[in-house]
Amino acid sequence: MNHSMQNGALGRLAAGAALGFFAGLAVPHARKAVMQAPSVMAGDWVDALTAEHRLVEGLFDKLLQTDDSQAAKREALLAKIAYALSKHAIEEENVIYPALMEAARADTSRHLTEDHAKIKTFIYDLRRLSAADPKWLVRAREFDAELRRHMREEEDEVFPHFRNTLSPEDNARLTKMMNWEGFKVA
Ligand SMILES: [Fe+2]
Ligand SMILES: [Fe+2]
Repeated sequence: MNHSMQNGALGRLAAGAALGFFAGLAVPHARKAVMQAPSVMAGDWVDALTAEHRLVEGLFDKLLQTDDSQAAKREALLAKIAYALSKHAIEEENVIYPALMEAARADTSRHLTEDHAKIKTFIYDLRRLSAADPKWLVRAREFDAELRRHMREEEDEVFPHFRNTLSPEDNARLTKMMNWEGFKVA
């Protein structure tokens, strides 16, 4: 089996799994289901959000290796990062952070939301700068550092601990709700 055949088979598998998950939705939503499939297949809400973190980190690794002559590549990678982070932020802000708030962890919920606002500002700043400007990569490095710090806090301190305090039913409900949010904006 060559590489493209493998990708095709995986794509169909992903689509099938996601369509199963979103059974009952109209066929025109198939594209959205495919977009959300990697997160659905990652497992529960913590695994799904962690997988999305790794995806964005991979895009940043590529972006930070670019030089000032690769403006188009920088813009393309930033667009992918912005798209992935928008979906990710909706999933967290519409389900996980409100659940934290409800569980009397309002301070955590609030400061994670503030981090997201900072992240949006980085994207806004980078889009206003020329991607050929040497300052662009300096700002991108600051963005990467801030984002990694935020993701580490979620992964190491907040999410697994919160999952452990919830019942399997509550965790399953969060996973389902989170995937619906991702599907909505995919
Ligand atoms: Fe977050
Ligand atoms: Fe996150």
